Amino acid sequence: MKTVAICSGKGGVGKTALACSIAAIIAGDQKRVLLFDGNLGLPNCDVYCGIEVGCTLGHIVRDGRELRDAVVPTKAGFDLISGGSGWKELAQLEGAEIDALVGDLMVLADTYDHVLIDCAPGVGNRVFPFLRASQGLMVVTTSEAASLMDGYALLKNAWDVNPSLTAGLVVNHVGSPAQGRGVASEVQGIVGQFLSQELEYWGSIRHDSLVARACAERRIFASAFPTAGPSQDLVDAANAIMGLGVEAEATEEISMLGRIKSVFGKKTEDSEDKAA
Ligand SMILES: Nc1ncnc2c1ncn2[C@@H]1O[C@H](COP(=O)(O)OP(=O)(O)O)[C@@H](O)[C@H]1O
Ligand SMILES: [Mg+2]
Repeated sequence: MKTVAICSGKGGVGKTALACSIAAIIAGDQKRVLLFDGNLGLPNCDVYCGIEVGCTLGHIVRDGRELRDAVVPTKAGFDLISGGSGWKELAQLEGAEIDALVGDLMVLADTYDHVLIDCAPGVGNRVFPFLRASQGLMVVTTSEAASLMDGYALLKNAWDVNPSLTAGLVVNHVGSPAQGRGVASEVQGIVGQFLSQELEYWGSIRHDSLVARACAERRIFASAFPTAGPSQDLVDAANAIMGLGVEAEATEEISMLGRIKSVFGKKTEDSEDKAA
């Protein structure tokens, strides 16, 4: 459960700002984290992280270079692969070429504990390849009707593309955590009723002008203002991502122990039979 696509139906809801902060929080927990800017040709992660990137996805695609050449470390402790801003080579990528890029990303993912993909907004062939390769989907929405509608449409498509996705909702720009929970439980109800799927709630992030200020100053919000309300909210979302699959792994371990016990138990019984 290491790859999580960060998506939204509607643009401008805070995906990139939240992605950079969550990557920083998870890296602060001594995990190896890769943030991949999947908004091909229109990247923002480098801007919000405040770094200049020499080799971007644009260079990788144009020059046929290895994806690992585009990995740059950030001050916040995670690695970033940045898209190339305005590169037509990225804007014009076809489905099969995006699939190949995602394949390379999955090979690289082996060297990380968590991979976060900051996707383009909306649905379609620029997002689906990332959803197919992910185990988790973080859907970011605000409490506005249009954003919620588009978030629902995204979910509907996402589970068509990859039925095994574990999806979690993050409600951004809320006035209070209670407001976020209220919005989430309504969406969860609708998703359960009409899509027969379980949507997890990964938290809500308070609206705070400090977030916009940090982005404008090209600083990662959670690193610049670690004690501010939205940073605390972001820790919950980061924990939800870090907790993904942990239960499943524990169950696998238990069943592995069960198998070992049954093999050794059988051997012990066999030798007791022989001894008798
Ligand atoms: N919780 C928040 N409070 C205040 N401003 C926010 C918050 N989350 C995001 N923003 C601001 O909203 C704007 C859009 O965010 P961005 O991450 O670029 O959205 P997206 O990636 O979804 O297009 C940015 O200026 C960002 O600083
Ligand atoms: Mg963005």
